[in-house]
Amino acid sequence: MQYLKEPNKSIIRFLIEGMKVDHKEHNMRNYLGRSTPIVGTSLIMLVALIVLVVLGSVKARAEQEVGHLQFISQGGLLYDNWYVHLGTPPPTDTHPGYTGIGEQGAASWRCPACHGWDYKGDWGGYAQGRQRQGITGIRNMTYAPLEPIVAVLKDDAHRFGGRIPAQAMTALAYFVARGQIDMDLYIDRKTRKASGDPDQGARIYQTICARCHGINGKFLNFNTTEDPAFVGTVANQNPWRTLHKIRMGQPEVDMVSMLAFTTRDHVDVLAYAQTLPVR
Ligand code: HEC
Ligand code: HEC
Repeated sequence: MQYLKEPNKSIIRFLIEGMKVDHKEHNMRNYLGRSTPIVGTSLIMLVALIVLVVLGSVKARAEQEVGHLQFISQGGLLYDNWYVHLGTPPPTDTHPGYTGIGEQGAASWRCPACHGWDYKGDWGGYAQGRQRQGITGIRNMTYAPLEPIVAVLKDDAHRFGGRIPAQAMTALAYFVARGQIDMDLYIDRKTRKASGDPDQGARIYQTICARCHGINGKFLNFNTTEDPAFVGTVANQNPWRTLHKIRMGQPEVDMVSMLAFTTRDHVDVLAYAQTLPVR
């Protein structure tokens, strides 16, 4: 650092001196690193500190992620049916903003009534048919901050303020921002077939889902004896709705969320469910 004391040196000299100093410092560092015990000890302590900090932040991140997953699955159940999941009395009127002919009364207040199970509203499955209303999907709010999403839920098109409590609003916003997926990546819109691997899906289905639905999916009937609906039936009829429920669980009952698994796993389960008997 000598050149600092002699500011009048030419630029060449300045550079040469600078190189010398760098060189010396470099050697000194090597030397200290190799053989001075006190430096060695502090290096070990530094490394230990870094390891602790990294482990700490990994743990904090893992906890944060669990928190997010918990909110997302709650939000997914609320998206499915908020009044059933909250255990509040269902609305008695039809939603004033509902203009389709598919739903009447309380069901018209559920998010999928307007935005669909594919989250795409009239850009997706509701482009035609009884549910067609010309309402947008929620895909554009993926990764949006939570506050504007909550604000949307309270606007005149929704009227959920006063019906859905604040914490549940936050969970819904988590689902909108982080939980929804582009189902067109996994389900063919024309054939309704899931692109997953049924053999992989069978491993999950037979160890988790079969406990409640039976090995062929026929243990629980969601409809009437005359017109039964089993896992195989709904997985083929409405794979979007089934994929949503595989990922988030089923409101009111004990059916678990599979969010701790990957989307690939969810789609594999759906592909396997599509091979199960439909009646
Ligand atoms: C009765 C019909 C209806 C229901 C039920 C409904 N929405 Fe909407 N939603 C709309 C309409 C209409 C819009 C567009 C106008 C607006 O942004 O308010 C919209 C817009 C949105 C948007 C903003 C999309 C964008 O890109 O700007 C989000 C997010 C959303 N809804 C989430 C939900 C959630 C979550 C639920 C269920 C708790 C829900 N909606 C239930 C009609 C509905
Ligand atoms: C702890 C029991 C349990 C487990 C585990 C479980 N389910 Fe369910 N599931 C239920 C119950 C109960 C219902 C609601 C039955 C009804 O509405 O009559 C249901 C409903 C469903 C529905 C129909 C949803 C609808 O309304 O369209 C599908 C599809 C389904 N489950 C698939 C699965 C799959 C796939 C798995 C594994 C990932 C699974 N379930 C795991 C208990 C369970």
